[in-house]
Amino acid sequence: MKLLEDKIKSEGIVLPNNVLKVDGFLNHQVDPQLMFEIGKEFGRLFKDQKVTKILTVESSGIAPAVMTGLAMNVPVVFARKHKSLTLTDDLYTASVYSYTKQTSNQISISKRFIDKDDRVLIIDDFLANGQAVSGLFDIADAASIDVVGVGIVIEKTFQKGNQIIKDRGVQLESLARIKALTDDGRVEFE
Ligand code: G4P
Ligand code: NA
Ligand code: NA
Repeated sequence: MKLLEDKIKSEGIVLPNNVLKVDGFLNHQVDPQLMFEIGKEFGRLFKDQKVTKILTVESSGIAPAVMTGLAMNVPVVFARKHKSLTLTDDLYTASVYSYTKQTSNQISISKRFIDKDDRVLIIDDFLANGQAVSGLFDIADAASIDVVGVGIVIEKTFQKGNQIIKDRGVQLESLARIKALTDDGRVEFE
């Protein structure tokens, strides 16, 4: 998506350890017009999948997920993060390991917001190691619902998350695909 790539080129900052800082429009301050375009683009890419619900994880997945829900006219549910959980009877939960933070979090979704006939589209801001998406797959499996696609705003194709989604065999659409973040601070797209 040209608009997104241009935004990454002009405002993205390459940090050590292969991290791209985009807090000026995605991870802290949010650019609503850009998110609106992103939502419409996901809506177009997944229009044939009969999506009934969007799933994401708080917090940075919410903005693109809500705009996709608006474009597709379906509700959006975000998994909540917790350090640990005691009362989980009415929740679907999964464990998500963060390589960047080297900690595990539990994510959960209330059973009230999942219907057995749901066809869900997962939306997230970044695809790196794929742990967040993997946790949402676990929740979908526990709830016996179908995941019909994964939409990612920025994929780092040199990390291993895309393999997890390929193995699952669902439609993957990434709006910006980064093949390298260079030592001198450049972003190289596929
Ligand atoms: P994964 O879900 O793909 O496995 O991501 P990983 O464990 O590698 O990273 C953990 C967190 O870091 C995730 O956000 C993920 O979106 C984010 N992340 C990964 N690579 C980058 C990057 O290059 N730039 C930025 N800005 N973020 C990156 P999170 O902990 O779930 O946080 P939140 O922002 O959604 O609250
Ligand atoms: Na995220
Ligand atoms: Na993030």
